[in-house]
Amino acid sequence: MYNSIDLRDVSVEEVRGIDLDLVDLAVPAPEYEPQRQFYFMAKCRRYVKTMSEKAGRPMTFFTQTFGCQMNARDSEKLTGILEQAGYVMEEDENKADFVIYNTCTVRENANLRVYGRLGQLKRRKKENPHMMIGLCGCMMQEPEVVEKIKTSYRHVDLIFGTHNIYRFAELLCERMESDRMIIDIWKDTDKIVENLPAERKYSFKSGVNIMFGCNNFCSYCIVPYVRGRERSRNPKDIIEEIKRLADDGVVEIMLLGQNVNSYGKTLDNPVTFAQLLQEVEKIDGIERIRFMTSHPKDLSDELIQVMAKSKKICRHLHLPVQSGSTRILKEMNRRYTKEQYMSLVERIRAAIPDISLTTDIIVGFPGETEEDFLETLDVVRKVRYDSAFTFQYSRRTGTPAAVKENQVPADVVQDRFDRLLAEVQKISAETCSVYTDTTQTVLVESMNDHDPELVTGRMGNNILVHFPGDASMIGTLKEVYLRECRGFYYLGELRE
Ligand code: SAH
Ligand code: SF4
Ligand code: F3S
Repeated sequence: MYNSIDLRDVSVEEVRGIDLDLVDLAVPAPEYEPQRQFYFMAKCRRYVKTMSEKAGRPMTFFTQTFGCQMNARDSEKLTGILEQAGYVMEEDENKADFVIYNTCTVRENANLRVYGRLGQLKRRKKENPHMMIGLCGCMMQEPEVVEKIKTSYRHVDLIFGTHNIYRFAELLCERMESDRMIIDIWKDTDKIVENLPAERKYSFKSGVNIMFGCNNFCSYCIVPYVRGRERSRNPKDIIEEIKRLADDGVVEIMLLGQNVNSYGKTLDNPVTFAQLLQEVEKIDGIERIRFMTSHPKDLSDELIQVMAKSKKICRHLHLPVQSGSTRILKEMNRRYTKEQYMSLVERIRAAIPDISLTTDIIVGFPGETEEDFLETLDVVRKVRYDSAFTFQYSRRTGTPAAVKENQVPADVVQDRFDRLLAEVQKISAETCSVYTDTTQTVLVESMNDHDPELVTGRMGNNILVHFPGDASMIGTLKEVYLRECRGFYYLGELRE
């Protein structure tokens, strides 16, 4: 084969479509992105080919994602790069030649799971000479974690962080060319690299990053330290990506950011999140628009108006309250009071009566008293969330709340957590059932896990619906009559 393409001569628009087997690797790698990474994908591809020939079978990979939607989207990028590098996806971790964990560190238990799994991988590595282990994501941005891996988990091959994930191909190549553990962690970056490959988990829906990082520094939260400063993507890049997704059959998109309501503020030509949404709405083929997460302090009336008028934006807002106590909210540095939050909810409900509201709540923040906790229960009872994610406060090293002296004893936290969960579940069962005997639009997502006669889909407000159907319906929107509510999901039937 004649390897004729010099990637230094290839434009950004062309590079995505190039046959990597034809890339000339005798010339130096391009200095600029994303072309540089395509060069290293081509290089890895040749190494992977040699390994496959030696093993007499394709080389396979397995990715495990911990944490939020943003990590899930990052994992699709890792998958895209690994496939370009010649690896084939393997569903069974125990069979894969390359295993990569995209980690989360928002709460302690996320970290513990990673260490547990890493221990198990050690034995497997002894059995498979081709095996490599990669670690990336938020946990790797913590220096103590990297130290611990360096000393106690020597069998790891490659470690990188959240800021340089776009260099995955280059780092993988570096590992293939040496037998050292490769570690590359950056403290921060203002760089956003566009146009890298991504392999979507679902054909019909996709996450789309609109911003990276977070500037809010809620006092309990580690995200600003591990994801760096807030940076918004250019609206043009976002719109182009969504148009490409729509051309590729995607009907639902989820715009992703830690605080989407502050999107665009730092761009050279500032744009509001509501303006961005209006542009996204115009894209043909996109039927449903979701977004996550909204910080209550930045949710504008402009956004409420745009949502109220929209035909495509789902009638759903995830609006984390964290606590119902104004005193605790201040300690958390959330920058709203209980009253401001409640009045925001009222304004939203007045403009969009059928809105579904969901939330995140932390119990046991340092210094939280029984009265504070009762304020949280009060908000839960008044707002009547469709669902709520409840978390026990987890002490994260480096955050201001971690050094507070008045940490709440574990048994008190557990007791409040149990009471909160019971309340939240009671209310969601009640709010969920209000759609019984109505017809709703459902995006069919998969065959039902338990019954081959049924398909499973989601309503605009995210509630699951199971109804008789077949695989040809996956990825399409259907009108479904909701016959019976079973707590948190519905059984329905297709409306012709
Ligand atoms: N950017 C989003 C949240 C990202 S983290 C927002 O501002 O709402 C997701 C959720 O994890 C948070 O909403 C919070 O409820 C929870 N969380 C974050 N740090 C935590 C900690 N130290 N302990 C317990 N829960 C935490
Ligand atoms: Fe964490 Fe607060 Fe930023 Fe959300 S807004 S990621 S809770 S610091
Ligand atoms: Fe976890 Fe990082 Fe998301 S810490 S919640 S994966 S931003």
